[in-house]
Amino acid sequence: MANLYRDNPLSKIAWDAFQGLSALEKGPYFQREGKPYHALVAQQFTRPVLDRLCDLATQVRRIAKTRGGVLFLQDLLCEKRAMLYFTQPSTRTFLSFYAACQLLGLNPAEVRDTTTSSEIKGESPEDSIRTFSSFFDILIMRHPAGGFAERIAWLLSNTERPVPVINAGSGKDQHPTQALLDIYTLQRSFERRGGIEQKKIAFVGDLARGRTVRSLAWLLTLYPGVRQYFVAPPSLQIGDDILAALDRAGMAYEISSDLQKIIPEVDAIYMTRIQDEWDVAHESRDLDTSRYHFRVADLARLPADAVIMHPLPRRREIEPGVDGDPRAMYWRQVRNGMWIRAALLLTVFEREREIERYYQDLTS
Ligand code: CP
Repeated sequence: MANLYRDNPLSKIAWDAFQGLSALEKGPYFQREGKPYHALVAQQFTRPVLDRLCDLATQVRRIAKTRGGVLFLQDLLCEKRAMLYFTQPSTRTFLSFYAACQLLGLNPAEVRDTTTSSEIKGESPEDSIRTFSSFFDILIMRHPAGGFAERIAWLLSNTERPVPVINAGSGKDQHPTQALLDIYTLQRSFERRGGIEQKKIAFVGDLARGRTVRSLAWLLTLYPGVRQYFVAPPSLQIGDDILAALDRAGMAYEISSDLQKIIPEVDAIYMTRIQDEWDVAHESRDLDTSRYHFRVADLARLPADAVIMHPLPRRREIEPGVDGDPRAMYWRQVRNGMWIRAALLLTVFEREREIERYYQDLTS
């Protein structure tokens, strides 16, 4: 029953050598025939893969509108089981993966509280996770340690029961599947305006510790002509590693601390919360971030065809009164997460063709 992938390139490289690679260099180790087998870093995704995932997500979304379609989808992965190992809090990512599994008939199980597992007896997370691969066909995991999902993918790839690993958020560095749903939301928002290319996209808030921004900023390098704005207090600005990646990709960007100046200029504004759970030294606890809030009064200055996004959860950075504006996309983002994650699961298990055939019959 396990998805044994014997040619998994991660089984052919030593951990020390792998660890020394850049995220971009690691990408090919997570692929099977140019498609994701593991999904661990934003840098592993190519533009054709993103386009295919978005098409697949739309096909699944449309197929799921009928009872017959739902029954077809539920049969696709009914022989598979998924472990959702979330040792860091989550509402949307956990539930959208759970719902995507249910949509495809993939049976989900969960460990969210390690005090109820044998980790409380001193078992290492590595051994705990290796146990999962005895029972499950895929591991979807969120962990506070940056790079831990990669370590697990490497470890499992070097056992007799390798299973694909999906990173549902790791440390402050990566949240690749959030970036996928953000791309899907942007693509749907701009489908009548020539797509994501050439758009001006502003990231606002805690850009230093926001893993969603780091993953999405990189994916946007795959869309020619996009101009990115990073709007934050100086102490919470985007990391130099991301700016270096944008420079290498020849992408235009602007660093700013003036949200009011940026609002009338952009096609999309991506708000984020202050991530003070990482703030062990309480450096940002007393920082006044009210200048980086989007208020009802700001709607009048935002272009009529722009969109407002947020990975959520939010605190006060978007006034609830903004929610009713047609440009507010953040609740649609949440639902898009289910569709794109279903598309990713189908791709990992190589079942996309069946979706395409069913969709063709449905629309012909
Ligand atoms: N966007 C996001 O990752 O939300 P959760 O933390 O609720 O999963």
